[in-house]
Amino acid sequence: MRVIIRKTYEEISIEAANLVRARIEKKPDLVLGLATGSSPLGLYKELINMNRKKLISFKKVRTFNLDEYYGLKGDHPQSYRYFMDTNFFNHIDIDKTNTMVPDGTAKDWEEFCIYYENQIKKSGGIDLQVLGIGSDGHIAFNEPGSSLASRTRLVALDAQTIEDNARFFENKDQVPRFALSMGVGTILEAKEIILIANGKKKAPAIAKAIEGPITSLISASALQMHPRVTYFLDQEAASELKRIDYYKFVEQAEKEIGKEIF
Ligand code: GLP
Repeated sequence: MRVIIRKTYEEISIEAANLVRARIEKKPDLVLGLATGSSPLGLYKELINMNRKKLISFKKVRTFNLDEYYGLKGDHPQSYRYFMDTNFFNHIDIDKTNTMVPDGTAKDWEEFCIYYENQIKKSGGIDLQVLGIGSDGHIAFNEPGSSLASRTRLVALDAQTIEDNARFFENKDQVPRFALSMGVGTILEAKEIILIANGKKKAPAIAKAIEGPITSLISASALQMHPRVTYFLDQEAASELKRIDYYKFVEQAEKEIGKEIF
């Protein structure tokens, strides 16, 4: 695993955007897995800037989002479809028909989840998956206890997640209780993964995910089994890691040999 630590959130957002840019340059029809939440917002801002300056194009890029609240329509201001449109897709040259977000209104959710998995497979699989992390260590909506082999499915949200996300709704009671989410197994099939985390609140989850044992109680810890993962952390999110010196040493070594070391 690569662990890139920078002082500020702005710096890690730029680093993450540079990685995404490099991957799109190599493969213009990249299949990009995307996340919602505040963590990737800085990355999206940088990518929008790069697109405006014509440094990258999303014309051929296809995207799959990790998750969606179950019961919310795409035009609901708190839906993840709305989030992606307003924070990213509306500002870049992507073909909207190439942007996939789970359908929170699908009546037959079991059938929809199979369809979503098939769409990912049909695209050739996700080349690069962007992740944030919940304060309880979850990725997408794979709450503590989610099987590490789980696939896209209906998930009951944990009390902690409802608490964390209540800030976006009028009150806690309005936060949906369920979501459709890619599983940990689905995420691990992406060819490459980046995870962005900032702020003190994420420090315990980050320490457990990177340096703790692999456990379904911290679904991000499953990333330890993936061969190409890069963490982008600000100083606060990295503050409970024990091996910071080693991660810096590896980054230095990467500069010397001019290659990424996973
Ligand atoms: C939600 C999302 C996750 C996201 C997490 C953290 O639970 N389903 O994909 O990583 O929130 O959000 P934030 O980045 O706002 O802290």
